[in-house]
Amino acid sequence: MMKSVEILVGSPRIKGNTFQMAEMLSRGIRNDDCICDIWPLYDLHIEPCVDCRGCKKGEMECVIRDNMRDIYPCLEIADIIIFGTPIYWYGPSATMKLMIDRFRPYYANKKLAGKSLALLLPAGTGAADCDVTIEMFKRFARALDMKFIGAVTAKAYDVGDVNNDQEVKRSISDLAAYINGAA
Ligand SMILES: Cc1cc2nc3c(=O)[nH]c(=O)nc-3n(C[C@H](O)[C@H](O)[C@H](O)COP(=O)(O)O)c2cc1C
Repeated sequence: MMKSVEILVGSPRIKGNTFQMAEMLSRGIRNDDCICDIWPLYDLHIEPCVDCRGCKKGEMECVIRDNMRDIYPCLEIADIIIFGTPIYWYGPSATMKLMIDRFRPYYANKKLAGKSLALLLPAGTGAADCDVTIEMFKRFARALDMKFIGAVTAKAYDVGDVNNDQEVKRSISDLAAYINGAA
């Protein structure tokens, strides 16, 4: 059975640590049975949720016309959704937050229920500054009836730092192995 993984990357640095982590994971899981997309969120047009409540009516879908219209269908057929974001002030980047607010329809329509969620989180000081973000995504997963399967944190500041970190490479290959083995 073909598996599909969507990696949503909320860093403006296209060669930065978050993208490097996303590519490491993608290399580990892409095979004949698994397809993987990497979404560069800073290159997309994503409007903020304005709490219009449009997604609480009718089809229970977001009414805003922007690039979320490309992302939504992929999320709905995905088995695993990965959120990669640099830590900015102990939280996700603004663009990542912008996008997760647009997951509001899924709170009501439960179309992501049962799917797995994992995190890729580089931060200048490492794991110590990732705890609030991990907790936020755990609650987010719970609210959407998704399964939180793990977070890989990295102590990384300059572009390329994660490539010299054997522990990060090992953690990402463990996550890839888990994804490859998961039913
Ligand atoms: C606005 C801003 C806020 C940041 N806040 C934190 C922080 O709270 N804790 C931390 O450890 N690193 C912080 N950093 C450093 C980034 O998390 C770090 O450089 C990361 O590797 C960037 O990821 P990227 O290469 O994918 O863009 C911040 C960086 C920026 C630009």
